[in-house]
Amino acid sequence: MTTEIFKINKLGSDERKLIERASEIIKNGGLVVFPTETVYGLGADATNESASKKIYEAKGRPSDNPLIIHISEAEMAEEYAYTNELYYRLAEKFMPGPITVVLRAKQTVPLATRGGLDTVAVRCPANKIANELIRLSGVPIAAPSANLSGTPSPTSVNHVIDDMFGRVDVIIDGGNSDFGLESTIVKIDDDGGLTLLRPGKITVNDLFQISDKVRIADAVTDKLKEGELAISPGMKYRHYAPGAPLILLDGETAASVEYIKSNSKENIAIICYDEDVFEFSHNFPNAQIYNFGHREDLANQARSLFSLLRLADKRDFSIIYAPLPVKDGIGLALYNRMIRAAAHKIIKL
Ligand code: TXA
Ligand code: MG
Repeated sequence: MTTEIFKINKLGSDERKLIERASEIIKNGGLVVFPTETVYGLGADATNESASKKIYEAKGRPSDNPLIIHISEAEMAEEYAYTNELYYRLAEKFMPGPITVVLRAKQTVPLATRGGLDTVAVRCPANKIANELIRLSGVPIAAPSANLSGTPSPTSVNHVIDDMFGRVDVIIDGGNSDFGLESTIVKIDDDGGLTLLRPGKITVNDLFQISDKVRIADAVTDKLKEGELAISPGMKYRHYAPGAPLILLDGETAASVEYIKSNSKENIAIICYDEDVFEFSHNFPNAQIYNFGHREDLANQARSLFSLLRLADKRDFSIIYAPLPVKDGIGLALYNRMIRAAAHKIIKL
C-alpha cells in the first residue's frame, strides 16, 4: 500500500485542505494515522466494521482487544453510548483532553470496533489536528495507538513511519506528542464511583474532583493473577517489552550502582535521572547512559519514555536498568508503563 505523509505544523487553509483529504479517506473506509496530545493514533471510521478490521490487521492486534472511539465533542457520544451525569461531569472538566471513558455501548458501534464487548471507550482529543479530522469525517474515529503490537506507542512521526509505513493510507505528521503516554482510562460504576483502568495525565487526584469513590484497578500496579479476568482487555496482554530485559531499581543511587556492579555484565544500558548521570557514567564508563531528565520532572520523563525505549531497542544491550518511578500524580502512569515493560522485574534495594 502506498502511504502519503501530510506534514502539518499550523492550521492554515492549506493544512485544512490536507485534513479534509484525510477525512475523505476515513469516510471511504481507509486508514489514517493522526497525532493526539498523548500518542499517535491509527484511525478508521468506527462505525464501519470492515474499516475497523483493517486496524487490527495493520497493527497485528488480537480482535478481542477493543478500540477507543474518538469524538470531536463530548455530546457526540450520545449516538454511540449511554451517557450519564458522571460522564458529563468528567467531560466538562477534562474534555477535550487525555481522558477515555468506558460507557455502555449502543448498537451503532459495530462489535468489531468494541472487541465484542457491550461497552465502548470514548475519548475526545484536545489535539487540534485530531479534533478537526474527526469533525470533518462526521463519524467517530476508532484508533488504538499507531504502533505495531509489541512496540511502544509512537510519540513522533519517525516512530510511526518505522511501524506503519506501507500499512496505512496517510500519516499526518503533527510533530512530537505533548504528553507521550496514552490517555487515562476510567470506567463509570453503577454506584456513582469511578474505576481507573489505565493511569495517564488525568491523575487519581483529578478524578477525586468528580467522585469521592475512585478505585484503582489491581492491574494498574500489580501483575494479573493466573486466570484472573482483566476489566480492560488490554491489561491481559503482555504489554510492550524491549528485546533486552528491563530491570527497575528501587532504591538510592549508591545502592543502584552497587547492584549493577555486583551483577557485572557487558553491554548494558542505564536510564537515569539528570542528577545521577555523573555517578553512573563514572562507575560504568562502557555503559550506554540515557538521560531521563530531572528526577522531579515527571512530565519530561513521560514525554521521553517511549522514545528512549525505542532507542534502546535498536541496540543489542544485554540488560537495561532504569529507576522505579514514584506512584504519585502522573508518576502512576510512568510506573504502570515501566513495570509492564519490565515484566514486573523490580529489584528492591
Ligand atoms: O491516548 C490514547 O488513549 C491513545 C490515543 C491514540 O487516543 N489510544 C490508545 O489506544 O492508547 P489503545 O488501543 O492502544 O489502548 C486502549 C486500551 C486498550 O488496552 C483496550 O483494551 C482498552 O483501552 N479498552 C478499549 N475499549 C475498552 C472497553 N470498552 N472497556 C475496557 N477497556 C477498553
Ligand atoms: Mg496501545
